[in-house]
Amino acid sequence: MRIIITKDYQELSQKAASLIAQQLKEKPSSVLCFATGSTPLGTYENLVSLCKDGKADFSKVFTFNLDEYYGLADDHPQSYHYFMSEHLFKHVNLRKGKSLIPDGTVKNIKEYCKHYEWEMKQKGGIDLQLLGLGSDGHIGFNEPGSSLGSRTRLKTLDEQTVKDNSRFFDSEKDVPRYVLTMGIGTIMEARKIVFLVSGENKASILQKVVEGPVTSMVPASALQLHPNTVLIADEPAASKLARKDYYSYVEKMQERYEKGEI
Ligand code: F6R
Repeated sequence: MRIIITKDYQELSQKAASLIAQQLKEKPSSVLCFATGSTPLGTYENLVSLCKDGKADFSKVFTFNLDEYYGLADDHPQSYHYFMSEHLFKHVNLRKGKSLIPDGTVKNIKEYCKHYEWEMKQKGGIDLQLLGLGSDGHIGFNEPGSSLGSRTRLKTLDEQTVKDNSRFFDSEKDVPRYVLTMGIGTIMEARKIVFLVSGENKASILQKVVEGPVTSMVPASALQLHPNTVLIADEPAASKLARKDYYSYVEKMQERYEKGEI
């Protein structure tokens, strides 16, 4: 895992957006997979600016999303369909019909989830996956105990996640208890993963994710086994990493190498 520690959330967001823009430069027809929540908001803002300045082109891109609340229609203000449209899609040159987000209203869930995975395969697989980290260690909505080989399916949210996400709803009881989420096995098939973690409240769990054992009790720890993951953590989130100084040193050495200084 490559670990980039930024001084603050702003720098984290700029770095993440520039990695995505770079991906689009290298492969204009990239298949991207997005996350929602608070963490990627700054990244999306930066991507919108880059697109307006002609530095990020979405015209040949296809996008997927990690998850959606089960029971919320596309136009519900807390649905992830609505989130993606508001924060990214309607501001960039992504073509109509070139994004797929799990449909939270389907009846035949098993068939639908299989089909969602099939769509990913049809598009050639995910080139770049954006991830955030739940305070209980989840990625997507793979809560502690999720199989590390899991695929897209219906999951029940952990009470902690319901509490965490209640800030977006009028009250805790309005938070849907079910979600459709890509599995950990699905996420691990992405060719590149950009994993964003921000804020002091994520510091303890991030330490377990990076420096603890790989275990389904900390689902994001599976990323230790992924060959091409870039973790971008801001200082507060990175504050409990035991080998923080070493990670920063490695990153400086990497930059020198990329500039041809060694
Ligand atoms: C959202 C998702 C979740 C969030 C996680 C962190 O699509 O997959 O795993 O990334 O819950 O959320 P924030 O960024 O709001 O702390």
